[in-house]
Amino acid sequence: MPLRTLIPDDRIQARIKELGQEIARDYPDGTLYLICILKGATIFLADLARAIPRDAFLDFMGIASYGRGKTSSGEVKVTKDLDISLEGAHVLIVEDIVDSGITLNYLTHVLRQRRPLSLEICALLDKPERRQRPVSVKYVGFRIPDEFVVGYGLDYGEKYRNLPEVCILEGE
Ligand code: PRP
Repeated sequence: MPLRTLIPDDRIQARIKELGQEIARDYPDGTLYLICILKGATIFLADLARAIPRDAFLDFMGIASYGRGKTSSGEVKVTKDLDISLEGAHVLIVEDIVDSGITLNYLTHVLRQRRPLSLEICALLDKPERRQRPVSVKYVGFRIPDEFVVGYGLDYGEKYRNLPEVCILEGE
């Protein structure tokens, strides 16, 4: 299927540098955890973590969601939990994309119960037109139109995650 570049890799990297500086400014002290949601956010996490000029701890969480697309039951479950406790720490959820908002709406409820000092979201891409559940995203890389995008962590049937840029998959 043909791919069309939506965001070239130099723009992604430049924006991540800005986000990293902003995040470091907003968290001058305290423990900061970056929580990466598998698998799509792995590439973004790797670049973002290195763009934040302060200590940051990393952990990973797996989520399975059913009901995006045709049936919208909005059921979400944790398939891989964190290794660490969030109590008393600043927590920043790192996501590749916010679409319906179902995943992050659920996840923020789950993580808030673990008593972090603060809980915010950083998403590389946001498709606000698609929102079904409210989500407050503090740091957004790029707002994008409602197109099927792949690359830079995002897949189509597990393909394209390792593309360095974000592309529109045409015909989808
Ligand atoms: C994608 C993305 C988010 C979620 C966003 O994950 O990484 O977690 O969908 O969609 P939503 O706002 O409609 O809930 P996906 O389930 O495709 O898994 P993956 O990251 O492993 O590809």
